[in-house]
Amino acid sequence: MNEYRKVDSTQKLAGSMALRGAPEGTVVVATTQSEGRGRYSRRWKSPQGGLFLSLVLKPGRERAPLFALVGALAVVHAIENEGELAPMIRWPNDVIINGKKVGGVLATGSYAGGTLSHVVVGIGVNCNFNASKLGRTSGRATTLFNALGKSVDLVSFRNGILGSFAGLYSGWEREGDLKVVTEIRGRLSTLGRQVIYLSRSGSRVEGKARGLSRDGSLLVSTSGRTARLRPEDVRWIREL
Ligand code: BTN
Repeated sequence: MNEYRKVDSTQKLAGSMALRGAPEGTVVVATTQSEGRGRYSRRWKSPQGGLFLSLVLKPGRERAPLFALVGALAVVHAIENEGELAPMIRWPNDVIINGKKVGGVLATGSYAGGTLSHVVVGIGVNCNFNASKLGRTSGRATTLFNALGKSVDLVSFRNGILGSFAGLYSGWEREGDLKVVTEIRGRLSTLGRQVIYLSRSGSRVEGKARGLSRDGSLLVSTSGRTARLRPEDVRWIREL
């Protein structure tokens, strides 16, 4: 475990450690980040009291979109152990409580000569602070402090996430996608919902989320056709 008080981004740091040969399972944790990043290079606000960690993985084969979802499932498990909450996953990488985002997961793949050399899974959870600290986005976000009415122990919460992720990841490596994808489907708030999303090319599309494929793509039916969305195809998605 590599623990820091303040870094620019655990994701950046873990990525450069992986490039220098850090082994699978290397974890980078920080108390705050000055340049925390989310999907599409969006800023990830990282005040003290939050959990910010990145984990280096060296998977045997290519299974990209599922990494963020498996990370989100580990966060869901760890939140459930903190109290009477019903966290869910909002495709492709959000963890939500009562429709508000409490955490996000970023999976960054790195390739050498066309083959996947490592993946960094970055996890950010709003823990022990008030959502008002998140500024403009605070209306759509929540924190564990707000949802539980008390703080969590950051070290045991973090260990809960890492323990759950390790179990899910080794089961996934051993047994393949089906079991973990089935569990993710059961926790996905998006399924069966009418959604609107902004595509990579900038068009707004509305449709119904009908399923999650074995590789983690979301199946959305729009007028007359079914789109198979990978996380990188979607800038943002809202459940209506
Ligand atoms: C998202 O919702 O877009 C994903 C957010 C991921 C944030 C985490 S915090 C730890 C790690 N370091 C970063 O800079 N980002 C990830």
